[in-house]
Amino acid sequence: MADLKTFFHPRSVAIVGASKKPGKIGNAIVKNMISCGYPGRIYPVNPREEEIEGLRCYPGITEIGESVDLAVVAVPAGRTIAVAQECGLAGVKNLVVITAGFKEVGREGLVLEKELTRICKSFKMSMLGPNCVGMMDTHVPVNASFSAVFPNRGNIAFISQSGAMLVAILDWSLTAGMGFSHVVSLGNKADLNEADFIANAAGDPHTKVILCYIEDVARGKQFLEVARAASRKKPVIILKSGTSQAGAQAASSHTGALAGSDLAYETAFRQSGVIRARTMGELFDLAVAFAHQPVPAGNRVAVLTNAGGPGIITTDQIEKSHLAMARFSKETSTALRENLPPESAIYNPVDVLGDAGVDRYRFALEKVLDDRSVDSLVVLVCPTAVTDPENIARTVLEAHHRHPEKPVFAAYMGGKTLESGTKLLTAGGIPCFTFPEPAVNVIRGMVHYSRVRALPEKEEEMTFPEINRQPVEELFHRVREEGRLTLLGSEATRVAENYGIKVSPMVLATTPAEAAGMAREMGFPVVMKVASPKILHKTDVGGVKIGLNSPEEVKEAFIHITENVQRYLPDVVIHGIEIQKMMPKGTELIIGMTRDVQFGPLIAFGLGGIYVNLLKDVSFRLADGLTRREIAAMIAETKAHTLLRGYRGEKPADMDALINMIGRVARLVTDFPQIAEMDINPVFAYPDGACALDIKITIS
Ligand code: COA
Repeated sequence: MADLKTFFHPRSVAIVGASKKPGKIGNAIVKNMISCGYPGRIYPVNPREEEIEGLRCYPGITEIGESVDLAVVAVPAGRTIAVAQECGLAGVKNLVVITAGFKEVGREGLVLEKELTRICKSFKMSMLGPNCVGMMDTHVPVNASFSAVFPNRGNIAFISQSGAMLVAILDWSLTAGMGFSHVVSLGNKADLNEADFIANAAGDPHTKVILCYIEDVARGKQFLEVARAASRKKPVIILKSGTSQAGAQAASSHTGALAGSDLAYETAFRQSGVIRARTMGELFDLAVAFAHQPVPAGNRVAVLTNAGGPGIITTDQIEKSHLAMARFSKETSTALRENLPPESAIYNPVDVLGDAGVDRYRFALEKVLDDRSVDSLVVLVCPTAVTDPENIARTVLEAHHRHPEKPVFAAYMGGKTLESGTKLLTAGGIPCFTFPEPAVNVIRGMVHYSRVRALPEKEEEMTFPEINRQPVEELFHRVREEGRLTLLGSEATRVAENYGIKVSPMVLATTPAEAAGMAREMGFPVVMKVASPKILHKTDVGGVKIGLNSPEEVKEAFIHITENVQRYLPDVVIHGIEIQKMMPKGTELIIGMTRDVQFGPLIAFGLGGIYVNLLKDVSFRLADGLTRREIAAMIAETKAHTLLRGYRGEKPADMDALINMIGRVARLVTDFPQIAEMDINPVFAYPDGACALDIKITIS
């Protein structure tokens, strides 16, 4: 991972392409560097000027006479190569390339970008961009950007793949009272990418929350490792656009990003502990909440309101969000009953009624927050003629100070008359919304994060004895040499056996006599299936016989199957007939794998059998580094889990055997990138063990 110490804390900054002319980017950067209060040395570079904004201007970077920590490049694209070369020779450590006109404009730009990156690498210079707004750090402070706004100092790190979104948010942040530790416009991510900046922010003492807007991730594996480690330390909240098909196309044309499938991103984020925001609103709501409020200890929410309807709406949202309404202790309920008017609702939500003054709010706030069964609180205020929103806000702040360990959110439902109260709350660090739903969404995100934070930094990886790679390697090689991409069932069975995946034995016979001998050795009853990768639905062409109990039946079935298939599909090549041991019925499951360009193999688990596509009861995880805990969670997410736990008096299934099988499949597909797709359907789960029955493997 790139060391960004001199990037964020440069002792000197050069602006190559600095300009005297107001309105030009090269001028804005110089002004920004000066006005932010940067404490280091600033060197404008422009061959035609002697002085810019009161600073001595240098004709070239090599003429400065000292090694520069950071150079901001704002010359036209065609000149960036020569400039980067000079920066390298002058010993510059980091570049911020503002210039546009690289891979986002097409082939020619891509060639230019590659050359720029090559030069940076050859001089070991790190580079942000090209095609970016720049970066800012409010604590240094440094403003190596052409943003119109320098944000307030704060504890949110914001990393954005869209420069436009970044500048818009910075402008908005001034009115929203939000502060940032640093902000980075990623641009084309030719060198430094989101993972570098997430890793840096995780170790930055000024950053409490890491916020990202991305359109893709540059390197899936690197991202996962970094996000996993960072999210154990601080919340990492990401808004990823391009989730819809149309959105993905827009993303590609925007910065030339290749948006991976959304399912893979969804899985990657969840597995690495990233909190995924669905909208820009949610992204910043979460950011503010994490920046100012503690992470709740649990999922029990209390609601305090002066109106019935909003209380019910909030309760509904809490239930929809899989949070729990706190159940107050007897002591709390008694105190509320004895001290609030008889018409008040004293159970959660607590309704202090429309005529509630500050004292009533204060009493209820204290009692509710004192209750040990409350992990977080939403306070609702609707303006009646007797409501005092400003003093209620003060009371909420006081109550929160008494219980700084419990997050408090407010919904001031109205506008004009609530303005001053809203301002007071916001300034005091209590997120204040107009409506209650966003407050509940934020609590959901925080509760999710409390679970992520509790996970161990490094989880034990599953280890598997009895794995034989070599025979699998050879088998794939042979199949490819035969010009095939699909393995026969008997071959897929061999692969599984070599990875310790329990599978019902299967062999390939080429004559009736051989089939009979093999079946006898295997033990009756057996199943027979035509062996041909070209036949997808074997039953439909009379290619399957089940429950065969003797050598005679096997010989007869061999001849029958061969005749059937030749009649239906005279041109299809048959490799023989596969004999498989017939297994007793178990719970039918599927374990599958599909590959994602960014994140590699994705494992699927769910209800198996012929209705897989109809039922769609599947959960997904990335295969790489899959842990026992994740596999158990993956199983628990499906409806199949209810069956496996023992439905209607059935014995529960052997979970350990299933976890082990999924783990081994994950290992197999990670070890062999040439496996393009894999399906085990069905897997039979039993009270003691599990067995794969039908395995399909396609290689690339
Ligand atoms: N070293 C130092 N200065 C150089 C130079 C070099 N090798 N080559 C040129 N310059 C000077 C120029 O003389 C000019 O100075 P001047 O204003 O005193 O004449 C200055 O650098 C800028 O060059 P110029 O040719 O005027 O370019 P420009 O200012 O019109 O455009 C960019 C330069 C970088 C702003 C433009 O190419 C660009 O990429 N704009 C888009 C930026 C953007 O949108 N980024 C992404 C945001 S998400």
